[in-house]
Amino acid sequence: MPLSAFGPGKVILLGEHGVVYGHPALAGAISLGVTARAVQSDAPSLDMPEGLTAPQLDALERAFAVAVRRAKYPKVAVELLSELPLSMGLGSSGALSVATARVLLHAARGAAPAVRDVEALALEMEKEFHGTPSGVDHTTSARGGLVLFQKGRAVAVKSARPIGMVVALVGPRASTKLTVGALRDRTKRWPKRYRRLFEHIAVLGREGAAAVRKGGLGALGDIMNVNQGLLASLGLSSPPIEDMVYRLRGLGALGAKLTGAGGDGGAVLGLFEEPSRSAVALRRQGVECFVTELGAD
Ligand code: MEV
Repeated sequence: MPLSAFGPGKVILLGEHGVVYGHPALAGAISLGVTARAVQSDAPSLDMPEGLTAPQLDALERAFAVAVRRAKYPKVAVELLSELPLSMGLGSSGALSVATARVLLHAARGAAPAVRDVEALALEMEKEFHGTPSGVDHTTSARGGLVLFQKGRAVAVKSARPIGMVVALVGPRASTKLTVGALRDRTKRWPKRYRRLFEHIAVLGREGAAAVRKGGLGALGDIMNVNQGLLASLGLSSPPIEDMVYRLRGLGALGAKLTGAGGDGGAVLGLFEEPSRSAVALRRQGVECFVTELGAD
């Protein structure tokens, strides 16, 4: 004591939404995340972070209560420090769940917990935030690096070279739960057509993992572009997202697509050989963005 643990945020390179239906998604941990700090206390407590909406605070309270119960009531006061923009598709609740699970389990057991125990507890927390999450967010955060995730299982994907991404923020969006629910309704109404699109996205996820292993950034970029087209077909893109996709491609991105749930806003990824230069150009245009290298520890 005091204890401190980090949970990185994530980006989905390929396969969001399909992953909810059991298809693979390629995701990577990013450099920004959430840190949980714990100090000894008479009873478990959470110092609520500022800037959350009432529903977000409710979900966080419920998630913390579940985590404390499952970790057998460690006597710690927990404080959360986040560098991640909230509700932007960058896995802030998954990162928070991983960081919190790590400090609570460490405090309860007196030793750093195994990754699988962190994942199991973080999943219970994620359910309070998202209902029925695929699990890709907290699993990527707990494992780090790049993973190919499918049906609760994650395989590490070793990248032959650094993957430089610009992550551009294009504004607020509806909750993941709402966007996933609306797509589920369309999928139920027109199952054959939507199944075909999901199957195509699944193939892209596997092709993308192979491209990463070979260091084929050109191929990966092209696969991202095709995935963006299919996400738009599924009704998950919007004018602010498309505008950013074309801006990033205009700056020389090898590939650009939305990441996470999409919808009316969120984050857009641009894959670049030299991401820093493009980020400077974007910031000059007034765009909020950051650079992250995927595949790093
Ligand atoms: C998660 O960041 C994005 C979605 O695929 C939902 C999920 O996997 O639970 C849309």
